[in-house]
Amino acid sequence: MIKSAWMILACAMLTSPAWAEGDIKSGKKVFKKCKACHSLKPEDNKVGPTLYNIIGGNSGSVEGFRYSKAMADAGLIWDLETLGDFVTKPKDVVPGTSMAFGGLKKPQQVDDLLAYLQSEMVSE
Ligand code: HEC
Repeated sequence: MIKSAWMILACAMLTSPAWAEGDIKSGKKVFKKCKACHSLKPEDNKVGPTLYNIIGGNSGSVEGFRYSKAMADAGLIWDLETLGDFVTKPKDVVPGTSMAFGGLKKPQQVDDLLAYLQSEMVSE
């Protein structure tokens, strides 16, 4: 019993993607929904904080952006999983966030968006 639980866990860990599997081009289109409020350039805060090199970053950590208390205290790391959950249901992941976005409805949009964001990462 315990052994099989470990097997399932091990398999789950092996199959969880370290790299988003979506389509970068479609993801760029999905990002249009975010663009009104977010830029991908460094130090370019709009209504929302810049999403420059967002993947792997700490939540609430962009210099000079006034976060809600909820986001400032969230203590998340924006890996593919937390980011995917957040853009699906922002208010479930960070209750009280000031991000006025209802969430992406389709899992495919989320995968594509993550692939696009990953493709825009800049190594420093
Ligand atoms: C209507 C404006 C608006 C839209 C549209 C929007 N956001 Fe946001 N976003 C914000 C605001 C404002 C915050 C700061 C939230 C807070 O402080 O609670 C934020 C925060 C974030 C954060 C946390 C950043 C950090 O520094 O911790 C991420 C990630 C994010 N948004 C991603 C997205 C993505 C991806 C989309 C498109 C699918 C999107 N947002 C659409 C306004 C928006």
